[in-house]
Amino acid sequence: MAPPSRAGQLIVVSNRVALPKQTATGGLASAMREALRERGGLWFGWSGKIARQTASTVHHRQDGPVRYATIDLSRSDHDHFYDGYANRTLWPLLHYRPDLVDYSRGHLDGYLRVNNVFAERLIDLIEPNDTIWVNDYHLIPLAALLRQRRIKNRIGFFLHTPLPAAGLLIALPRHRELLETLSSYDLIGLHTARDLRSLEEYFVHETGASLGRGHRLRSSQGRRFRAGMFPIGIDTKHVAQDAEQSESLEEIADLRTSLEGRALIIGVDRLDYSKGLPQRFHAYARLLERAPELHRQVSFLQIAPPSRTTVPEYRQIRRELERSAGHINGLYAAPDWVPIRYVNKSFPHSVLSGYYRNAKVGLVTPMRDGMNLVAKEYVASQDPENPGVLVLSRFAGAAQELTQALLVNPADTEEVADALQQALSMPLAERRQRWRGMMDVLERHDITAWRQSFLGALAD
Ligand code: UDP
Ligand code: G6P
Repeated sequence: MAPPSRAGQLIVVSNRVALPKQTATGGLASAMREALRERGGLWFGWSGKIARQTASTVHHRQDGPVRYATIDLSRSDHDHFYDGYANRTLWPLLHYRPDLVDYSRGHLDGYLRVNNVFAERLIDLIEPNDTIWVNDYHLIPLAALLRQRRIKNRIGFFLHTPLPAAGLLIALPRHRELLETLSSYDLIGLHTARDLRSLEEYFVHETGASLGRGHRLRSSQGRRFRAGMFPIGIDTKHVAQDAEQSESLEEIADLRTSLEGRALIIGVDRLDYSKGLPQRFHAYARLLERAPELHRQVSFLQIAPPSRTTVPEYRQIRRELERSAGHINGLYAAPDWVPIRYVNKSFPHSVLSGYYRNAKVGLVTPMRDGMNLVAKEYVASQDPENPGVLVLSRFAGAAQELTQALLVNPADTEEVADALQQALSMPLAERRQRWRGMMDVLERHDITAWRQSFLGALAD
C-alpha cells in the first residue's frame, strides 16, 4: 500500500519507463524523465522485461524524488499488446500509414488484457488526491478501466504521436469502442492545432459528441472532458549546458579529429519508418551527385538505434538502410573519405548534445512526427556565436514552432538537397538570426512550462 499523502502525488503512467541510468531513446521517456525529476512522483509502466507471467510482481525502486513501479509482461502479452496492437496497428495508423496497419482480433484482445492489468495493479497505488497522467497510444482505454474500478481522481492523457483526421481514424476496425474511451479522461493533450482539430472532428462527427467553448466536449453519454494543445518542450537550459561542457568529452574530441575539418551533417532517430530515413539518404546522395565540389568536404553522421526489432516492418527498414548506406558509400567514398557514417547504436544525452554542437547541419526529416525532440535538442546545443542550421520536415510537430528552420517536404528529394546546400553555405549573420529566433521559443516553452501548463489545465 502506498504511504498516504495529503497533497496528492503525481502518478505518471506510460508503457515505456526510463529507469535510472538507462539511455532513454524515445521522446516520451526523455520528456517524462525531465518532468518527473523536477516535480517528483511515481512512474508506473512496463519494466522492459519479458517474464513467464504478466505482472506477477510489481518492482519498486526509488531514485531521488522519483519512485518507479514497473511490471513485466509475458511473451504472449508483449507480442499482442506491444508488438501487435500498439506497434503494428495503432502506430502506423497514427503516422498516416494505413497501408502498414495490421489488425487482428488477437492483438486487440491482448491490448485490452494488458490495459486491464495496468488498471488492476495501479489501483493499489492510487491515493484519493493523486493526479494521474497517462501517456501515449499504448494506454488509450486506461482511464475508462480505472473509472470502472471507481477511481474518481483527475486523470489526464497525453498523446505523443500525431493524430490523423477522422477520415483516416475510421479505417481502424472497431475504432469507436477504443477511441470513445478517451472521454473518460478529464483532459486530453495533443502537440499541435492539427492534432487537436482531428480529435474534435472525430468526436463530433463520428461519436455524436458536442463541442463547446475552450475545447470542452460532452460525449454522447453525457461525460464532460476537455482537449488542449500542449506542444512538448525540452530542458533547454540543461541541454545547452551539456553541449557547452561536452567539449571536454573524449567522444567529442574523437569525432572532431575524425572529421579533419569537414562539415558535419547529423541525423539522430530511432530506426523507424516514420522518420523518413531512406528518403533522407536519397536526398544526401542527390546532393553529392549534383555538387561534386562538396565531395570530401562533408560527412553525414546518421545515428539510428534499432527500435521495436521484433516487428517485421522495422527489420525491413533496417535492411533497406544498410543497403542504401552501402550503395552511397560504394558510389562516392574515397580511401580517405566516407560520405555516410551510419551508426546503429544509442548514445546518452551528454554525448549527443556534443555531437549536435559540432554539426553544421541538423537534418530532421520525418514523414510524420508528433513533435520530434531531436530537432529541439539540436537547436539548444548550438554555439550561440557560431550556430548550425536546422533542416526540418514540415510534417514534424516541431515545425509549428521552429519556423526559422529550413522547412522541407521530406518526400521532395530536390527540395531537401537544396536545403542542405543552402544550410552548408549560409552566412554567419543569417545563421545567428535564425538560431536566436528558435532558441527564444525553446527558452519560453521548455519542459517545465509544458508540464505546468498540462497539469495546470488538468487541475483547473
Ligand atoms: N535519443 C537518445 N539517444 C540516442 C537517440 C535518441 O537519448 O542514441 C533520444 C533523443 O535525444 C530524444 C529522443 O531519444 O530525446 C527521441 O525523441 P524524438 O521526439 O525525436 O523521437 P521519438 O523517438 O520519440 O519518435
Ligand atoms: C515514441 C512513442 C513513445 C515510445 C518511443 C520509443 O516516442 O511516442 O511512446 O516510448 O517512441 O518507442 P518504444 O517502443 O521503444 O517505447
